[in-house]
Amino acid sequence: MRLFFALWPDDEVRARLERWSRELHALCGGRPTRPENLHVTLAFLGKVEEARVAEVERAAGEVAPRAVSLVLDQPGYWKHNRIAWAGASVVPPELQALVSELREVLAKSQIGFDAKPFVSHVTLLRDAREPKGMPGLDPIPWKIDGFALVESVALPRGSRYEVRRSWEASSRRPA
Ligand code: 2AM
Repeated sequence: MRLFFALWPDDEVRARLERWSRELHALCGGRPTRPENLHVTLAFLGKVEEARVAEVERAAGEVAPRAVSLVLDQPGYWKHNRIAWAGASVVPPELQALVSELREVLAKSQIGFDAKPFVSHVTLLRDAREPKGMPGLDPIPWKIDGFALVESVALPRGSRYEVRRSWEASSRRPA
């Protein structure tokens, strides 16, 4: 199965991202990410044998999920892949630490992943035109409590991303 680790938005953040997506779509066109698929990729594993999924989950369990305050305040566009995205002008050190720790445990367990450096972004539109300028958009505050292991399920009309399991900081606090 195709797997990746991600930050998964709550309904409020998702609704705000949908608003950004609509505003950007008016300028750039393209194919909007389905609202239920919106996320930030932390590590992309790609194809993983069914038999190794338990190992992936065990490795992720070694990572301390942290509370992170992220503010998505920067719409952007990449010419090379024609993607319009929502990004953060400041990547909190706790988020960078989470990504580094996650990637370290994966490497230690010899679980392969795309080693491209982490770029904190949510893909909003694919096959988009380059906009003349970026609109001013209301920043999206996002209180992150953990991370998720997500499966990309191929459907006739594109992929659907399903959270298989999540690890949350709050669930670790003593009762
Ligand atoms: P994205 O992070 O720019 O949106 C599922 O395919 C997710 O993993 C997508 O969000 C995708 O791009 C991200 N991703 C990161 N590296 C990838 C790779 N090498 N191949 C496919 N998707 C990748």
